[in-house]
Amino acid sequence: MNEQITHLQKIIANRRTIKPDQFTGEKVNDELINQILEVANWAPTHGYTEPWRFTVFAEEGLATLGDFLARQDQPDVNAEGFNRTRFDRLRNRPLKCSHVIGIGMKRGNNPKVPEIEEICAVAMAVQNMWLMAHTLGLGAYWSTGAAAFTDEMRDFFGLEGDDRSMGLFYIGKPAMEHPKGRRLSPITEKVHWVRS
Ligand SMILES: Cc1cc2nc3c(=O)[nH]c(=O)nc-3n(C[C@H](O)[C@H](O)[C@H](O)COP(=O)(O)O)c2cc1C
Repeated sequence: MNEQITHLQKIIANRRTIKPDQFTGEKVNDELINQILEVANWAPTHGYTEPWRFTVFAEEGLATLGDFLARQDQPDVNAEGFNRTRFDRLRNRPLKCSHVIGIGMKRGNNPKVPEIEEICAVAMAVQNMWLMAHTLGLGAYWSTGAAAFTDEMRDFFGLEGDDRSMGLFYIGKPAMEHPKGRRLSPITEKVHWVRS
């Protein structure tokens, strides 16, 4: 039992943000991605709403995503002030990954469940995915740039109306030593206990 506790603590504390620039570019088997997605589905929800929706970009889909991100940022390549370096950086980022998962929230119609609960549930699903990716030896990164929460991104993920896009989860093989984590302050500074 003690071993299990230490193991879990280590998995949680050693999970890191590893970004596409730090990936090898190698493509991993879809089977690993399915293992990552499977644990997302075990996140808790209020009322079994299970609002997480994922769009997996793989193979040529990575280029489709890159084009979308670059064009969202700078729609007109002929515009004055067009920044080619920035455009290419955004376009090429997904190509450095093995897979990229679009994170979405499907808004249900249960009036007892406010939107914030659905967003919390999706975040818990992402944490499950992140812990699994780390345990499988993969690098992962949740990105929420300017485009992350737009209607255009929501539509691009095949969602609609009150649904939301919640960013991108980049996955790849890390090309570097596992990074050390840091926190700016210990948990004791973020907790207060009430005993009476
Ligand atoms: C909801 C969410 C959104 C994030 N968005 C970004 C982002 O847009 N850009 C970025 O550099 N990091 C982003 N991150 C990653 C954090 O920067 C990272 O988790 C933090 O630096 C702590 O590092 P660690 O994950 O290695 O512990 C995001 C993390 C979360 C949970």
